[in-house]
This record gives sequence, structure tokens and C-alpha cells, in this order.
Amino acid sequence: MIKKVAILTSGGDASGMNSTIRAIVKASRWKNIEPYLVYGGFKGLTEGKIKSASDINVDDFMQHGGTFIHSIRYSEFLDPKVREKAKEQLNKMDIEALVVIGGNGSYQGAQSLNELGIKTIAVPGTIDNDISSTDYTVGFFTAMETIVQNVDRLRDTANSHHRCIIVEVMGRHAGDLATFAGVATGAELIITNEQVYNAKEIAQIVKEQMIDLNKESMIVVTSEKIYQNLKQLAIDVEKLSGITTRSVILGHIQRGGVPTALERYLSTRIGTYTIELLSEGKSGLAVGVVNNNLTSIPIIDALSKPKPKNIETTTKFSKINQQK
Ligand code: F6P
Repeated sequence: MIKKVAILTSGGDASGMNSTIRAIVKASRWKNIEPYLVYGGFKGLTEGKIKSASDINVDDFMQHGGTFIHSIRYSEFLDPKVREKAKEQLNKMDIEALVVIGGNGSYQGAQSLNELGIKTIAVPGTIDNDISSTDYTVGFFTAMETIVQNVDRLRDTANSHHRCIIVEVMGRHAGDLATFAGVATGAELIITNEQVYNAKEIAQIVKEQMIDLNKESMIVVTSEKIYQNLKQLAIDVEKLSGITTRSVILGHIQRGGVPTALERYLSTRIGTYTIELLSEGKSGLAVGVVNNNLTSIPIIDALSKPKPKNIETTTKFSKINQQK
């Protein structure tokens, strides 16, 4: 049975990471495992920024966005010598286990430390929802809520001015934020990497919606990394359709904010399950929730398994939302 576990957050922060840390710390105490916090992700780990959480009160961690133990993108961790240093830091403090909360890149770091003999569990923490071993990642629900609230506001002004607004959301190369938020806001066109529309095609739909069907507004929700210049796209759509068109990039606003109730529920279940697995002697696993059941598969499988695509949903709901 392990005696000590360290926790780190890595990659882009996500609302619910603090709540996950809280759950892991509390579950560790429940299982008589001493929790440690690593400050500054894999970089902090390599530099030995590890502190016992014994005196830290995590009660209030549930309701705060971001990550109190900080996060960082650290490509140096691909270097085996750097990983070896990280392992040494844990060994020095007799910490046998590590929980890594983050996205795909963080899973690679977690897997490499597991191969070096550290009992590691990877926890899905990213707004992108692009991890194949879970239906939902911690951070996704809150980011989606933020998008929906903002698109509702954009709809108000678009209605008032009889305009089209193109809204770009995050997600890196994954389309879940655009798809889910597009459905939840009634966007007349949802664009992801799986089905891209050019300015002429968008303008044609804008004309059908705003001129033929006489709709008050049209909202396009698009994933990021598709259009190099969103402002120019809006100018082109306006020119081709004759309908005033604006563009909005929501940006990092999507990463912050108070975690939603569902986020807290998900992170608390997943965090607790992580410690249950470690206390049973398991490691090298990616935890998640599939069909509302807690699940774990080898991290290496989580990294290679493809995430289901959204094309059917985006096409169907764009069409449905285009109805009067
Ligand atoms: O992975 C989370 C994410 O927010 C992506 O959606 C986005 O592409 C990226 O991080 C932005 O990264 P950064 O905060 O480093 O600019």
C-alpha cells in the first residue's frame, strides 16, 4: 500500500481542477495516504517544488476556477533526462505515486513517469474534451456554460441589428466545445474540423436564413484553428451575402470561472476514484466516466484510442437550427 501521493496539474488550466485536487487530497486522508502538492506542473516537479498538503485546508477548493497549484506547458519534459530528474525528486521524498491532472500532452508525461516506476494515474482535466478514455473531461462543462452564456448575449445584439455573428470557440483541434455549445445555443451553423465551410458557402446559408426565411439573426459557432483570420471571414461573408456580419473570438474567457455543479460532481467522483485505484495497488491508468460509470484503462491505450467524431451531430443540428 502506498504511503504518499503527489498531485500536479499540467497543460491549459480548466475549471474544476481545484475541485479535483480537493477530492484527491480528502480521499487520500480517508485512505491514510499522505498527499503532496506539486507547484508548477512537470516543470515544478523537475525542480522539486513539492510540498506536503498536510496543513492545507482544501475545503474551499471546490468552488474556485483555475488551479491553485499552477499549470505550465513544458515541452522539455519530452527529454528523458528531464523525466529522470522528476523521478529523482519524488524518490528523494519517498513519494511512490503521482496523479497528473491535464490533457493529452500531460498524459504522455504521466505515462513516461509510470514507465520509470512511479505509480501514476492520469486524470482528464481540459476544456477541450478531447480525451478518448472518458465521455467528459473536467473543465468541459464550465467552458461550455461560459460559451452558451456569451453566445446568448451575442444573439441579443444580433437580433437587434439583424446581423450574422461568427463566434470562434476553443478546443484546439477537437470540436466538442463547438458542437455542444452550438446545439445548446441553437446556432444555425456549427463548424468543426470535420466539416469546414468557406466564405461563399457560409454566405449562401446566411442569405437563405436572413433573406429567404426572414430570420432576425444568424449565429455561426466555429471551432478554433480553422480560419486564419476570422475578421476577414466576416468581411467576406458580409460582402457575399449582403448581411452585416461580425466576428467574435471568445478566447481565454472560456478557461476561467466558477465550476458548474456537474463539473464539481464529475471532478469529485473522478478524484476519489483515483485514490481508490492507487490504494488497491493499481497504476498506469487513465481514469474517466463512460456512460456515467467510473472507468480506467491503461494510459497508453487512452493515448492511442481515437475520440468519436461529431460530424453527424453538427450536420443534423445545423439543419434543425436552420428551420424557422
Ligand atoms: O487545451 C486547452 C486550450 O485552451 C485549447 O483549447 C487552446 O487551443 C489552448 O489551450 C490555448 O493555449 P494557451 O493558453 O497556451 O494559449
